[in-house]
Amino acid sequence: MEKQLKVIFSGAQPTGSLTLGNYIGAIQNWKELERDYECYYSIVDLHSLTVKQDPDDFKQANLSFLAQYLAAGLDPKKNVLFFQSHVREHTELAWMLSCFTYMGELSRMTQFKDKADKHKDNINAGLYTYPVLMAADILLYQADLVPVGDDQRQHLELCRDVALRFNNAYGETFTVPHIYLGKIGARIMSLQEPLKKMSKSDENQNGVIHMLDPKDVIVKKLKKAVTDSMNAVKYNDAQPGVQNLMIIHATLSGWTMSEIEAHYQDKGYGTFKMDIAELITGLTEPFREKYAHYMKNPDVLKDVYVNGAERASKKADVTMTLVRDRLGLV
Ligand code: AMP
Ligand code: TRP
Repeated sequence: MEKQLKVIFSGAQPTGSLTLGNYIGAIQNWKELERDYECYYSIVDLHSLTVKQDPDDFKQANLSFLAQYLAAGLDPKKNVLFFQSHVREHTELAWMLSCFTYMGELSRMTQFKDKADKHKDNINAGLYTYPVLMAADILLYQADLVPVGDDQRQHLELCRDVALRFNNAYGETFTVPHIYLGKIGARIMSLQEPLKKMSKSDENQNGVIHMLDPKDVIVKKLKKAVTDSMNAVKYNDAQPGVQNLMIIHATLSGWTMSEIEAHYQDKGYGTFKMDIAELITGLTEPFREKYAHYMKNPDVLKDVYVNGAERASKKADVTMTLVRDRLGLV
């Protein structure tokens, strides 16, 4: 079977709101890939059930996430945007793959260990089998590439192992996927602690830029951003705060590091920071407008996710017909 375009699959949980880190590290890459690949981007709502959710808030968060994807510029015609729970084959395949995944493998997952540590009162079986559902997400679409952050590397290795195990036992069934890591900007750091990743759930929200932050909040966070006493815009490891700000500048302006260094040679950090605030709000202000538009038009959102589920189901159906046959199900 000759495939025309290579397939990309990625997913994100509908929790919190998108950060500048998510945008630069993930969504910007996704947008670039939409030109050359068949892309499936799923809102993995079932994965979020491993943590207790309030149903009303959760429903709102799900729709808000889709609106944020659209506001960030993901084109629903070029990409298949859908909710995981709308394509039932994800859970069907997850069950089958769970019969090809060893307890020992799942016990070694660092994300499981971390989350079990954090939610001691709710160490449920879903938290444990989370990586199997993730493997099903990917294998269902015969994905060649999976663009994710480095933290998902272990889950992807497991997915590959399970796919190979199945293929060896039953013949070529699944494409064995590769991880896709973006170039620059793979790790945007907290503005307050530049050695720590900018993360949605950070206690110190001054270090985190949310795509939905109003302009004055962004300016304030930039003013407070940690730098150093060297007063030099130079790209080097001794100045992690400045380095992080330069990466943000470069990814949004398209300038090289030497262009940035030359431009700010005799300007202070104040000017540098306010220019970055300007670059960020150039991105976030239209984002906020588009987001508000989508949230006011639930019918448009519905069109997107219904159409996405239809397109995703077609592909999932082909894989599942093959898998059921391979397993000897009548
Ligand atoms: P998460 O926010 O952990 O659900 O991650 C969603 C996607 O955004 C993943 O592909 C992450 O690797 C990416 N991502 C999250 N935070 C950052 C960051 N600070 N810098 C770069 N990429 C990030
Ligand atoms: N586990 C991923 C995360 O925490 C989310 C995810 C679920 C995912 N299924 C996926 C990512 C499939 C890529 C492909 O970020």
